[in-house]
Amino acid sequence: MVVDVRAIARAAPLVAPVTRRGKPLSVRMTSAGALGWITDQRGYRYGPEHPKGVPWPPIPASILAVWQAVVPDARPPESCLVNWYGPGARMGLHQDRDEADFAQPVVSISLGDDALFRIGNRDKGGSTQSLWLRSGDVVVMAGEARLRHHGVDRIVPGTSTLLDAPGRINLTLRVVT
Ligand code: SIN
Ligand code: MN
Repeated sequence: MVVDVRAIARAAPLVAPVTRRGKPLSVRMTSAGALGWITDQRGYRYGPEHPKGVPWPPIPASILAVWQAVVPDARPPESCLVNWYGPGARMGLHQDRDEADFAQPVVSISLGDDALFRIGNRDKGGSTQSLWLRSGDVVVMAGEARLRHHGVDRIVPGTSTLLDAPGRINLTLRVVT
């Protein structure tokens, strides 16, 4: 799967995203599938092309197989977001709510160094729970959990030998339409 992710990043290079206000995010992002996730000063959205103007590469079979195994009754995923976390990277609490059909699950795959994942509630605020995501872990956010706030507080560089460099890959699969 890592070999397949490297091929995605060759076809659609990792982008350093910025928020609407121009503030850089600490993760690097690219996508595979019919629709990719774009974070830039025009806002957050799905789109059919990488910012350099080429279609996103298809979602590799090795990644589709995980979706098929864990959510066999769901529609096929239309988007695979690739997030690269270097040693200092994190992701603030957010909801995945830019998809049309919340009955469809979100599946995320962790590769490389351990990450401290935090999951909260559907509404902002309230208590949260933290859990470690380790290389090979798969999270399914479905049903009541589909719209819960979630994020990554930190990764722990050097906890996995899977990748050539310290860091973590997270793959997030979604049905968008
Ligand atoms: C995300 O919510 O986009 C990523 C979650 C993770 O890195 O585990
Ligand atoms: Mn998310």
